[in-house]
Amino acid sequence: MRGEKWEESVMRELLFEPIARGSLELKNRIVMAPMTRSRASVTGVPSDLAVTYYAQRADAGLIVTEGTQPSANGQGYPRTPGMHSPEQIAAWRKVTEAVHARGGRIVLQLMHTGRIAHRLNRTVEGPPVAPSAVRAAGQMYTDVLGLQDHSMPRALATEEIPSVIDEYRQATINALLAGFDGVELHGANGYLPMQFLASNSNRRTDRYGGTIQNRARFVIETLEAMADGAGSASRIGLRVSPGNTFNDIQESDPLDLYPYLAKTINPLGLAYLHVQRSGKLPQQAQTFDPVALMRTHFTGPIIATGGFDRDSANELLRRGEADLIGFARPFVANPDLVRRFRSGAPLAQPDPATFYTPGPKGYIDYPRLEAA
Ligand SMILES: Cc1cc2nc3c(=O)[nH]c(=O)nc-3n(C[C@H](O)[C@H](O)[C@H](O)COP(=O)(O)O)c2cc1C
Repeated sequence: MRGEKWEESVMRELLFEPIARGSLELKNRIVMAPMTRSRASVTGVPSDLAVTYYAQRADAGLIVTEGTQPSANGQGYPRTPGMHSPEQIAAWRKVTEAVHARGGRIVLQLMHTGRIAHRLNRTVEGPPVAPSAVRAAGQMYTDVLGLQDHSMPRALATEEIPSVIDEYRQATINALLAGFDGVELHGANGYLPMQFLASNSNRRTDRYGGTIQNRARFVIETLEAMADGAGSASRIGLRVSPGNTFNDIQESDPLDLYPYLAKTINPLGLAYLHVQRSGKLPQQAQTFDPVALMRTHFTGPIIATGGFDRDSANELLRRGEADLIGFARPFVANPDLVRRFRSGAPLAQPDPATFYTPGPKGYIDYPRLEAA
């Protein structure tokens, strides 16, 4: 008998265990990672399809929504949602109610794309804003003209930065009004906060550029503003991707910068740190392990995301190197991913051709196992 019990506990899969750490109280350790799906209206209002999409995936311990602009100025891609108008707040409330009704938890990801933008994708006049007037190499999709070079950004003046940070504070307040359980700052993948962190996109000579302390300032002040808006840092998370070169980012000193960032934000008591261990492009080699790096320096809960399957996720949890595991692409085609993991059922493969196309196809029409 004793032997059997021992065996059972060794075989236990941590992925399915509830977690209560800090402010997180989740039914399992499976996180639906943030994914831009470009199904909102041109004014950034999530459609009713989003209500169905997120509700279908509410078995996850935690859902992190698609990147959502804190202000119209934060938009870079077509048909991404916002969190800055009454219509957007009302539409998001339908999403959070549907997820909560199915026993799920959901946080909003705030994404300001900075220089990763094209004017045709934006509802505001003028160039996108960035730490410096350095155009990002590469192209992005526009509905009107297809692939286009990224627009040339305008450098933010020092005295403008507080108002950009304040947009994050207001969007955090709006997200909680819409019923979200928390808000994640998108500080990864080459968008505005990471453009401040990285030396190739941040050529500033004021207090937001130059030294590590100065380049980290935007992220730290934004987190403080969001915590202020939420009334507590325990409802705020941060996503980072140390060493990721996606969106034309080159970091000169990630092994110094990220430990400094972790050390400085530890006293805030954030809900979690979300570490993406590789970009969307699996071929991008990373010279160090960003999850291990952040585990060493960050004292709160860690979500690790990037290329995991059930076994590798359980293994990382068992080794204590992360507290939760994020899955992005597996959740696209498997709304019942948690159940499939539990039963060992095969996973359906997502179709990248419909990742960002409008409408229900490739969004809410992937069947659950029993219907497949
Ligand atoms: C279609 C798609 C959209 C994505 N959009 C976002 C996003 O809005 N915000 C973000 O932080 N990461 C985004 N990512 C990155 C994922 O969150 C995740 O880190 C990455 O896909 C690696 O995880 P996976 O191997 O489980 O897919 C996106 C990924 C995909 C495939």
